[in-house]
Amino acid sequence: MNRKNFPTILVIFGATGDLMGKKIVPALFHLYKKNKLPPLFQVLGVARRPFTHAEFRENVSALLAKHDEAHLTDASLAGFTRCFFYEQGDFRETDSYRSLARVMGRIDGEWKVCANKLFYLAVPPQYYETIFHQLASSGLTLPCSPAEGWTRVIVEKPFGHDLTTAEKLDLLLAKLFKEEQIYRIDHYLAKEMLQNILSFRFSNNLLEQSWNNKNIERIDIRLLEKIGVEGRGGFYDPVGALRDVGQNHLLQMLALITMEQPKVMNAKEVRYLRARLLQDLRLPGMKEAIAESFRGQYVGYDRIEGVKKDSQTETYFKIKAHLDSPRWQGVPIFMESGKRMKKQLKEIMVTFKHVTPCLCPPGKHYKNKVVFQLEPEERIQICFLSKKPGLEMEIEDRSLDFVYRSTVKRRQYVEEYE
Ligand code: BG6
Repeated sequence: MNRKNFPTILVIFGATGDLMGKKIVPALFHLYKKNKLPPLFQVLGVARRPFTHAEFRENVSALLAKHDEAHLTDASLAGFTRCFFYEQGDFRETDSYRSLARVMGRIDGEWKVCANKLFYLAVPPQYYETIFHQLASSGLTLPCSPAEGWTRVIVEKPFGHDLTTAEKLDLLLAKLFKEEQIYRIDHYLAKEMLQNILSFRFSNNLLEQSWNNKNIERIDIRLLEKIGVEGRGGFYDPVGALRDVGQNHLLQMLALITMEQPKVMNAKEVRYLRARLLQDLRLPGMKEAIAESFRGQYVGYDRIEGVKKDSQTETYFKIKAHLDSPRWQGVPIFMESGKRMKKQLKEIMVTFKHVTPCLCPPGKHYKNKVVFQLEPEERIQICFLSKKPGLEMEIEDRSLDFVYRSTVKRRQYVEEYE
């Protein structure tokens, strides 16, 4: 049986929470519409509230209706929600895991197979450790045999609060599970435009020879959002912009744009090269950190529910970073992110050096740029200089634009979580 068709049980801890409504349910529904879910597939929602299966399914329908899903017909909805089952339980209690084991055993029995089991931790991070321990000690993450029914755990950020706590969590995961059983999610890795950076760089040979400090002057990575923190104060305030998007999304963008060429295009090699690149990031001392970083908070942030009145949490940051590698030594990398910004702009801009002396108009030094833009439009743009049509020898900025996909309104997260 191929992987797509393998019977699968998806267990979601925290099935009545925010993550379920915003990300998991819509993404699963999209997979369902595309016929990409295995024919034998069940979602087992776990949470404390006393729901029946029927109430849980109504909840799932209501979530989809709320998100105004296109093509939401009664038939498609009924077919989809039929996969959903509910298990009331407290993820701190051993009994909940025992009863989960019974339910999953029953499903395996009905399907006459040992299904793959995927455990999704859609819960606040303070419960991660408890659930990992319980999953391991209850034997739920033990596959039926080396060849049958794999098990996986999915965990989202925030992955610890700092280096010490992140390492502690990682050590715990390593103790309880095999590396291949652990999915640490960053939805930026599933963005089409970011995956396309790999293709653009390594399937073409147009720019790769110039992709180094001899030719590149600077790199700017921006994740600027018009939205604020509304409704997420409780989550965001102890975290802040750097932990929310900096240490994950922006670093992934940085790694993709600057990593070495993989010898083979597989997950292991790409992961290894990305990680190796990140190890070249220079750790700033206190003086450098003060001089080369900036933090800010937008006006009105402290009035949001869940935010401390005297909160010092940053909703904006800009950092000048450096890679200490032969390829990138001396190229400043500016990473910037903010909420409630004037414009919505998510992009990586690579600026090229230009020869000196430059054949430029007075006061201007030409710069070529390559821009990988995620928002407002998914496109790659090469900015160059061209003669302005006319009698004078005037030079103007022009661009070659590759629009990856036309601007269709995409729902935040859905595609990535698919
Ligand atoms: C999330 C952050 O991980 O990424 C949010 O928690 C942020 O604060 C979001 O808005 C940005 O993701 P995207 O896909 O909209 O660029």
